[in-house]
Amino acid sequence: MNIIKEKDSTKDILTQLRGKMLQNSNKISTNFPHFTEGNHYSYRNDGFWTTGFWPALNLLAYQYYKDDLFLKTFQDCSNHLIKLLDREDILDHDIGFIYIPTFLGHYKLFGDAQSKEIALKAADMLKNRFNSKGKFIRAWNDWEDDTADFREEKKGKVIIDSLMNIPLLFWASEQTKNDDYFIVAKEHAETVMNYIVREDFSTYHTFNFDHVTGTPKKGKTQQGYADESCWSRGQAWGIYGFALVYQYTKEVKFLEMSMKLADYFIERLPEDSVPSWDFDAVENNNIKDSSAAAIAASGLLLVSELEKSEKERYYLKALEIINSLCSEYLSCESDFEALLRKGCSDLPRGAGIESGIIYGDYFFLEALVKLNNVKSFFER
Ligand code: GLY
Repeated sequence: MNIIKEKDSTKDILTQLRGKMLQNSNKISTNFPHFTEGNHYSYRNDGFWTTGFWPALNLLAYQYYKDDLFLKTFQDCSNHLIKLLDREDILDHDIGFIYIPTFLGHYKLFGDAQSKEIALKAADMLKNRFNSKGKFIRAWNDWEDDTADFREEKKGKVIIDSLMNIPLLFWASEQTKNDDYFIVAKEHAETVMNYIVREDFSTYHTFNFDHVTGTPKKGKTQQGYADESCWSRGQAWGIYGFALVYQYTKEVKFLEMSMKLADYFIERLPEDSVPSWDFDAVENNNIKDSSAAAIAASGLLLVSELEKSEKERYYLKALEIINSLCSEYLSCESDFEALLRKGCSDLPRGAGIESGIIYGDYFFLEALVKLNNVKSFFER
């Protein structure tokens, strides 16, 4: 069934989703959903990289629907995020995922001075993670259950997801007229391009450098099937992330890279246009990741906006993915809390498999509202 033949029909889907989101907003309130267990979201309030997506989903919903409840939920959650900003031990490079679609978004919508200050503080924390020898932003902090080897490895680790965090730096550079933010973000993006992207335009999830000398070492996976496989959500972050870097830098090599990654992603999509959690998974390759599809669709919409000659091809592919998500993955029933079914958070750790996932919901809604002239908080 083709629900979205034209972009106008996304309005019907958005109307259907509104009731569910209002109900969730009331019920979930100041908790921070991660992925569903059974019909309900489990919560993570501890500063995990996903912490911002619930308030962000509400802010995005407010932007489109204008219901006060969405804004109230965003505001009620914001104190937790403000306090979290003092926890440099917890916050890592994913500070962008937390503060871009929340405080930066709020600043963009309302011009609120406190939100701007918070987003700038987050940008400083991100900039301070730059390793100038290797020209990369360190991804993760120490975790409680780390082995000594992994703790050492993480000092020089870069991950593809980071491309979604650096718009915070590009924005901060424009706001403060301080080029340092821009230089760090651009050099980091170049490092990701040179080492995380393979020759065939598939991607590693992570890449290790010697953190003292900056010497490149090797690609490794964390959430994918194998070091040499292509984790589909990572590829989706790359499509969207490089397009964002192009939007801020205007350097065409970043848009070309986004398109190469997009072509790889599109080429490997199955019939229903929603990828397996890893394109190369030998075991569990029937397990889908609807969040990867949603992120890629939203990224492809940006590519189609920025690209001249192949605009329509990327736009139609984005619609095809959104159409499949709407026909086969959408959950409008009131007892299942997430908007999308069948995301895959972290298969190697057995976390959030065939579940609704908060960032899948976020980027799905983002793609739908973008089709209706609402701007993404990540975009310039
Ligand atoms: N940023 C981590 C993930 O996509 O799971």
